[in-house]
Amino acid sequence: MPEKILIAIAWPYANADIHVGNLTGSHLPGDICARYHRLHGRSVLMVSGSDSHGTPITVKADSLGVSPLEIYQGYHARFLELFQKVGISYDLFTSTHTSNHFFISQLAFTTLKENGYLYTATEKQWYSTTQKRFLPDRYVEGTCYICGNPDARSDQCERCGNILEADKLIDPRSKIDGSTPILKETEHFYLDLSSLEPEIVSFLRSREPYWRPNVIRQSLGQILSEGLKARPITRDLDWGIPVPLEGWQGKCLYVWFEAVIGYLSATIEWSQLNGDEAAWRGWWVNPQSRTFYFIGKDNIPFHAVIWPAELIGFEEDIDRALGAADPKPLVLPYDVPANEFMNLEGRKISGSHNWAVWGLDFLERYDPDPLRYYLTTAMPETRDSDWDWEEFYQRNNNELVATWGNLINRVLAFTYKNWEGIIPEPGELRPSDEELLQTIRAGFDTVGEKIERVQLREALAEVMRLATEVNKYLDIHAPWFEIKTDKSEAAKSIYTAIQAIDWLKIMFSPFIPHISEGIHTILGYDAPIFGGFKTETVSDELGTHVALSYEPESCMAREGVNLWQPLSLEAGKPFNQPYPLVKKLDHSIVEEERARLGK
Ligand code: MF3
Ligand code: ZN
Repeated sequence: MPEKILIAIAWPYANADIHVGNLTGSHLPGDICARYHRLHGRSVLMVSGSDSHGTPITVKADSLGVSPLEIYQGYHARFLELFQKVGISYDLFTSTHTSNHFFISQLAFTTLKENGYLYTATEKQWYSTTQKRFLPDRYVEGTCYICGNPDARSDQCERCGNILEADKLIDPRSKIDGSTPILKETEHFYLDLSSLEPEIVSFLRSREPYWRPNVIRQSLGQILSEGLKARPITRDLDWGIPVPLEGWQGKCLYVWFEAVIGYLSATIEWSQLNGDEAAWRGWWVNPQSRTFYFIGKDNIPFHAVIWPAELIGFEEDIDRALGAADPKPLVLPYDVPANEFMNLEGRKISGSHNWAVWGLDFLERYDPDPLRYYLTTAMPETRDSDWDWEEFYQRNNNELVATWGNLINRVLAFTYKNWEGIIPEPGELRPSDEELLQTIRAGFDTVGEKIERVQLREALAEVMRLATEVNKYLDIHAPWFEIKTDKSEAAKSIYTAIQAIDWLKIMFSPFIPHISEGIHTILGYDAPIFGGFKTETVSDELGTHVALSYEPESCMAREGVNLWQPLSLEAGKPFNQPYPLVKKLDHSIVEEERARLGK
């Protein structure tokens, strides 16, 4: 049976457009890995959705005087448009505002409660005397009591990444009217993390050898130095998932508590949409399956500690409640390759100051693969990185165009002209041909190992390095001269180069799939490498939501078929007239784009 791979991507808050920092932080690395595992023929499911509840959405709605539902739906539609254009191949991109997600989240709550991991307590929370209401999470800002950040939100500090205890915030102020809130008693449910601590610690220790050090530091490291405290998982808020108990009207599940459950509920929704209700179990109750969570560093505590705690606390009972005859516990994260942040031209990206490169806006002027290429070379895997327009320009022209695009063009245009659009018969290859092919063939292992470990920057650099090897080979063999004296010699060089291009096309395809599909079509393959997209409007008791899904029908990357290997090229096969796949950019874009920032 093909290996099961779950690619779980952080659910973006549906309160703002997606910018390049979001893309490089989670959606793009997740997509690269999903495509890579699909090329191996593994059974991949890549899920996420709009995080549509909680104060991130209501604060935005309040500020615009519209309903939270309108906010979520508007941004959700734009997310779907962006993912299709950039090629972020979600098997399902749904939303937390679905009946299915409500049901699974409430089941999760009830299960944790029955298993003894929840308790209620009355504690003090911020309350606005002017508005006569509680002010949870983002409704209160103030100074972080851990790092001194003056603009921390009461539930989380963006600067130090810590989850905060709201009542400890220094100099609190209401986001609604700037007034100073008071502390008032209110009853909430708490997740008893301290009783789960030993199991969380042993889980994290088992991951320590291969997880990124920053993720281990913000999970295991913190637990060992500070211990784990219970966290409130309900809020005085009416936009969200109601606490499924009598007498709890007006209180909802905390947005973070339920959003992480989305990884599970989305696989369940996918299973239902695909007519196999129990399919989700293949990823969730199978000890062989690997689950990867692609997130930004501000999400680490929720994915490396809170979500595993919920999963451990479910025991076998979620599986049982969903009807399994032989219920099992759910699998814990295999890897959480969190990224650091991407800055923009030396400054922190800020949506509200328009110091951002927005995905949809970018695509008005450029193609998706230059974006994917540059974002991968600048992916903040080990430290914060920087989007720099000059570097975008250089990478596009010097690498994507000069090294890869020109290689394809000159080889295929030359072949098309001199062999009437037929891949030439090489006869017996020469040692130097074999040598080049050996070098490129080895890439499937070296590049593959890096992608397995989610070292995508290095993996892409390695593929580009292999492309330069083909260029060097062509500089030496120069089929354009060989053909003048001996066409059969030129045929060997050309066949070798096209074979190398055909393999590199596959190695490049997780990163720059559109260009690879172009090469693939020119080379005369009938079926595309990857599938396409479809959107559908799903109705349920809550209303309707639009789901985006990946359609592998009639593409080559299918379960059980391994394309990540040196498949041999058929000589004598006709191919199509080549056309330029990558555009050279004019240097003037650098100044033009810089001038747009901050306006
Ligand atoms: N909405 C959060 C953010 O944008 C991420 C949530 S990830 C989830 O930072 F899985 F919990 F949804
Ligand atoms: Zn802080």
